[in-house]
Amino acid sequence: PSGAHVAALVIGTGYGGAVAALRLAQAGVDVHMVEMGMAWDTPGSDGKIFCNTREPDYRSYWLRTRTKAPLNYFLGFPIDRDIPRYTGILDAEEFGGITVYQGRGVGGGSLVNGGMAVTPRRENFGAVLPSVNPDEMYNVYYPRANAELGVGTVDPAWFDSTACYQYARVGRKHAQRSNFPFVFVPDVYDWDYMEQEAAGTVTKSALAGEILYGNNHGKKSLQQTYLARARSTGRVSVSPLHRVTSVAPASGGRYTVTVEQLNTTGAVTTVKTVTADRVFFAAGSVGTSKLLVRLKATGALPNLNGEVGRGWGDNGNVMCGRANHLWDPTGALQSSIPCCGIDNWAAGGAFAEVAPLPTGIETYASFYLSITNNPNRAQFSWNAAASRVDLNWQAAWKQPSITMAKTIFDKINSKEGTIYRTDLFGTYKIWGDHLTYHPLGGAVLNKATDNYGRLTAYPGLYVIDGALIPGNTTVNPFVTITALAERNIEKIIATDL
Ligand code: FDA
Repeated sequence: PSGAHVAALVIGTGYGGAVAALRLAQAGVDVHMVEMGMAWDTPGSDGKIFCNTREPDYRSYWLRTRTKAPLNYFLGFPIDRDIPRYTGILDAEEFGGITVYQGRGVGGGSLVNGGMAVTPRRENFGAVLPSVNPDEMYNVYYPRANAELGVGTVDPAWFDSTACYQYARVGRKHAQRSNFPFVFVPDVYDWDYMEQEAAGTVTKSALAGEILYGNNHGKKSLQQTYLARARSTGRVSVSPLHRVTSVAPASGGRYTVTVEQLNTTGAVTTVKTVTADRVFFAAGSVGTSKLLVRLKATGALPNLNGEVGRGWGDNGNVMCGRANHLWDPTGALQSSIPCCGIDNWAAGGAFAEVAPLPTGIETYASFYLSITNNPNRAQFSWNAAASRVDLNWQAAWKQPSITMAKTIFDKINSKEGTIYRTDLFGTYKIWGDHLTYHPLGGAVLNKATDNYGRLTAYPGLYVIDGALIPGNTTVNPFVTITALAERNIEKIIATDL
């Protein structure tokens, strides 16, 4: 309620926020989490909490009147459709040169993501987080994060026999024939559940095309892991459909936090003010960066340092499809949970997930999301005239990613005698280079903050999410975001409380 006081206020309920809430509560601190998205705990009139990728409805997108599917064409035809404006689960946030996809709701990105839970190769870690001791990460915090998140790997024997991974086996065959290292990729999806889906003994989720707008079964999102444990302490409360708009110093070393309550059309119904001893920015790379840049520029937190807003990257995301020969079908039934990849990071700067195209029909397509070593970094800045935060990413800055992804797929195409698909992102367009799923940076560790996420000009303010990571993790990012949050909150609890 307005006027309340909390010991610790956490902005956002994604990976960083969930780790902070659990560990603070276990240390005896009362925590209130503020989340702009919905709770996603109540079924709709169809009995389901989440909608399917094949039938996106009002639940699919955050405050849009038309879907904006990442893969927005099929056979050259646009597939987006009109939907009612609603506080849906997936935000396709548009900046000048890039669309940034993010989860909205209690659980953040864990609600919408593929669950691919990948620890970077140790030899690459120095480039991921140069100021962090790799020994403590690989001995303590990565194992802790993987255990709490419930990470597991597909049973290789089942993988070899199940119809739903035929597409991945085709991906493996093509990778290996071109001499690329093929790797299984761990995931937080319940692999036993998926085997039961294939056997027909449980309600299908991964095998029913559920993923981008939520999974009704099988996926261990943060709601099932960190957030469930946090709530069970009895010290953590959550306010969904509440958006933080300001944090400013108050008397006694506290902070005044302004919060808007939203209804499901996105309208503000109430504005509340609370005070907090400590505030954790866990609104995601974009959410935290936008808040900090605006609060610095508009005078609420003027002493934030000049690194705030800098060092943002897209994890080098780029998508593409290949057209297979008719003797290489990829299967009408495809698990929506990817389980393998092609690792050409050392030689070509690209790590490609073999991704599903769960359309329900045979497409003869192989589809890939590549994570590449794109060196470009963008900056958030306050646009006073428009009263908004802009990001200066340029569309052309994806070119290094395309060049790196081509080190894999040009070679496979030449070996297999195949070509790129040109019908998935438009008409005659090969590269899905207009988007990212992996925003990182904007309040970089040891630059905008100290080496543990403290905003040192303001004791009691912390950043604890993907904004800390300088733009690239060499693999999918949420295990690294979680492990770094575990490291930082342990230090903060030991020394600041
Ligand atoms: P995260 O974005 O998770 O959480 C931030 C939360 O803060 C959100 O719930 C948001 O609504 C809320 N918020 C923002 N502003 C606010 C405000 N002002 N007030 C209140 N609340 C606010 N990664 C991976 O490792 N493996 C994978 O397979 C995938 N796949 C994938 C697919 C898709 C479609 C997407 C969009 C993303 C992925 N990712 C992924 C990326 C991964 O989900 C992402 O890196 C993490 O969720 C980021 O975690 P954070 O804790 O930084 O923020």
